[in-house]
Amino acid sequence: MAVVAIVGGQWGDEGKGKVIDLLAEKARMVARFSGGDNAGHTVINPYGEFKLHLVPSGIFSPQVTCIIGNGVVINPASLLKEIDDLQNHGVDTSHLVISDRAHLIMPYHTLLDGLEEERRKQKALGTTRRGIGPAFSDKVARLGIRAGDLLNKDIFLSHLKSALEFKNAILTKVYQVSPLSLEEIYEQYCHYGERLAPFIRETSSIIHEALIKEWLILLEGAQGTLLDPDFGTYPYVTSSSPLAGAGAIGTGISPMAIDRVLGVFKAYITRVGGGPMPTELKDEVGKLIREKAHEYGATTGRPRRCGWFDAVAGRFSSQVNGFSDIALTHLDIYDGFPSIKICTAYEFNGRTLNYFPSDSSILGKCQPIYEELPGWQESTAEIRDFGKLPPQARRYMARLEELLSCRISLVSIGPRREQMIQVRSIL
Ligand code: IMO
Ligand code: MG
Repeated sequence: MAVVAIVGGQWGDEGKGKVIDLLAEKARMVARFSGGDNAGHTVINPYGEFKLHLVPSGIFSPQVTCIIGNGVVINPASLLKEIDDLQNHGVDTSHLVISDRAHLIMPYHTLLDGLEEERRKQKALGTTRRGIGPAFSDKVARLGIRAGDLLNKDIFLSHLKSALEFKNAILTKVYQVSPLSLEEIYEQYCHYGERLAPFIRETSSIIHEALIKEWLILLEGAQGTLLDPDFGTYPYVTSSSPLAGAGAIGTGISPMAIDRVLGVFKAYITRVGGGPMPTELKDEVGKLIREKAHEYGATTGRPRRCGWFDAVAGRFSSQVNGFSDIALTHLDIYDGFPSIKICTAYEFNGRTLNYFPSDSSILGKCQPIYEELPGWQESTAEIRDFGKLPPQARRYMARLEELLSCRISLVSIGPRREQMIQVRSIL
């Protein structure tokens, strides 16, 4: 079988959860490799409608070992809530495994995320305030606490003491807010630790065994390429890498073990939070997309900014990930549009740019140059064969394939499993 990395091609919310839920029917393992509960993966299947933040979207397939990899940061409270919610809906969670190397989000991380955002004032990044940035900062600053530490109360207490001493100094001296209580956090996290202990394991060897058995393994990405700390619209980015390359590091496998890289793109584009977005539509068309597709954040409920497909950004995303295939989601949102635009280049200071600038202040001043294609007037929601899609829809997809130099292998025309058309096999 194969290892397939599933990665967001835009600014997140592309429908990665939906794609993984479908592909997981044939897989034996799904491993999340980055991000934290800033992710919100909406899955609609026979069990109901779920917004998953940490649990891999393969959880609904009982034969799938679901791994929360070392590259993820875990808020134990939100993970336990998610596990309880799934169990209450009759979903078996006994096949979930958590890497002992995954870092934990602590109460000071969420508190500091909010305080840092307020300090930035007009320059706020619009984070999800889940403590993601502060937790990944602590990981690289070697101040982090890991899931495995919860298994030994003495070690946990000693790590917590050192970290909290420093964090409380920042809270009281820099932000002038009350310090956090060591005892309260210790008690609370010991309780979380007892509940999570059965799930915590060394996971890279579990994945390694699956590789030897040649299982179909899906690496589940979170966020999207344009939020990558290196290649995204810095500083308006998240704090871990959503790229395919991070799929290896975030799970502990060789980059050579990844056989296919599936980039998930919406037929249009959205962004939530601050930062430049050249094709943003602040008019009625943008509003129409938002209402039709219900583009409100799964994690924070914020309205998402909507715009035409940006193929300059898409090409760049294809380049840094090396997509072997693309899944195009939400194509049905364009049903009834008289025409559809694609941004194929930018105009900046009277010059045409054919590349995605690394400087966000330049990107913020780029004007999109559009190509306009005819729309289609019929509903696509009930179509199950690629060949039966309106010719204009197929033409739109063919143009995207040309611009991204990659084939579209999956296309979705609605939120349900059966509304995902397989154009060609991705394996
Ligand atoms: P999924 O996995 C869309 C955005 C936030 C903010 C920036 C930094 O559902 O695609 P953070 O809390 O990560 O420090 O916020 O990143 N962001 C997302 N946007 N989808 C996501 O995840 C996101 N996760 C973070 O809105 O702009
Ligand atoms: Mg989301």
